[in-house]
This record gives sequence, C-alpha cells and structure tokens, in this order.
Amino acid sequence: MRRPLIAGNWKMNGTAAEAEALLTAVASAEAGRAELVVCPPFTSIGQAAHHLSGTCVQWGAQNVYPAPSGAYTGEISPRMLKVLGCRWCICGHSERRQLFGETDDFVSRKVRALLDEDITPILCVGETAEERRDGRTAEVVQREVEAGLGAADAAEAAQMVIAYEPVWAIGAGQAATAAEAEEVAAWIRECVFRRFGAAASEGVRILYGGSVGSGNIASFLAEPDIDGALIGGASLRAEEFISIYNTANA
Ligand code: 13P
Repeated sequence: MRRPLIAGNWKMNGTAAEAEALLTAVASAEAGRAELVVCPPFTSIGQAAHHLSGTCVQWGAQNVYPAPSGAYTGEISPRMLKVLGCRWCICGHSERRQLFGETDDFVSRKVRALLDEDITPILCVGETAEERRDGRTAEVVQREVEAGLGAADAAEAAQMVIAYEPVWAIGAGQAATAAEAEEVAAWIRECVFRRFGAAASEGVRILYGGSVGSGNIASFLAEPDIDGALIGGASLRAEEFISIYNTANA
C-alpha cells in the first residue's frame, strides 16, 4: 500500500519573518497516515529544520545542483541539503524547465545526485496547453519520465515520487479534472512498469499538482493511481494546507 504524500512547494515566496509564521503554524499538523512535506526557498530551510524537527512535518528543497561541491556560483549541493535535514527535493519543475532552460538531461543528473545522498527526488512532469491540444500529452510525459529516471535503477525508482503537473493547471485556479489527472497518472505508472517492472511501478508514488486546494483534493485522492498532491499557492496558507493534509489522512 502506497502511503499518501502531501507536499508544499512555496516557490519564491516567504521572507524570513513570513516563513517563521508559516512554519510555526504548519508545525501544529497532527500526524496521520499520510506524509506531509514543505519545500521552502533555500533561505528558509534552516528555519524549517528548527521548527519542524520532532514534528510529523518533513522538509525539502525546490532545486539542487548535481555536483558535490566546487565552483558553481549561486548553487546548492545535495550534501548541503542533506545536512540541513532535507529528505526531499523537487526536480524538473515546469517553471525551471521553462524559465531557466532546464533540459531532461540536466534533470536526470539532479535525480542521480539526490539519490546518491538518499534524498528523495520529486520529479515533476507535465505537458503545456499547446502540447495537450496537439494530442502529445502521453509522448511528452513519457519522455520526461524516462529521462528523469534514466540514471536510476528499479529499486530507486520504486522509492521515488513523480508529480504530474499539467503546465496549464499550475497557478491557474482551474485544476485538471480528477479523471484527466488519473488518465496521465496511470500512463506514468505504465511507463515506469515498462522500464523497471512491477515492483517499481507499484512502489513509485505519483502526485497530482496544479490548482489543488481543500475543495478538490478528495477527488484526486480517490483515483487509484494518484497518491497525493504537490501544492503551490495553497501551501502558503497554513490552515488550508493542513486541511488538505487532514483529507489525505482520512
Ligand atoms: P499551484 O498549486 O499554485 O497551482 O502550483 C502547483 C505547483 O506548481 C506545485 O509545484
């Protein structure tokens, strides 16, 4: 049985003072059957470790550079995340692919580098509105999944998390329908099966992301191939975020 996972991606939000308030509030979540993760900006990961240690809430990062150390001005290594207690890291978010030119190959190197530090990658995949209109959703998602997992083995794939985030639903206020999300989640699981076999495809957790809130989370969790959600805007409101988590616990 796959454990439900609710992860919050704060994106570039939260000054130190704002993060302090949000982390303090999220720390009050009560443990349940689902896992709860927040991914603040790098500048607040230390604060997350401080406020969330000893609670049921875990923390992670939104990005990483795939090298152990060195002359990479402005970048953060997997080891730096590890020593701050990060057990999770988002990779290949569509905003990074679109705004910062991240390629499938670069994303795959990040996945490998994180696995080497025992940090679980949350690999984001998803099609644009135009790709969906052109009937290319399955092809795009397959390419991103296969490339992202390209440097992992079956046992690692089984432990990973893949977030299906249709680009057109991110920050749109209009989520995909549960049926649309399930169709692609099932395809992602099939792609993992074809490449790595049954144990990996049954173990890998697939999240839906894109305009998820307390009002629609239950519909996604009711789908057989959706194991949780990656939450943007709603993760910045503690009460709403905890309410989403409590639905996953129910
Ligand atoms: P929203 O929940 O704000 O649509 O963002 C989704 C997302 O991109 C999470 O990574």
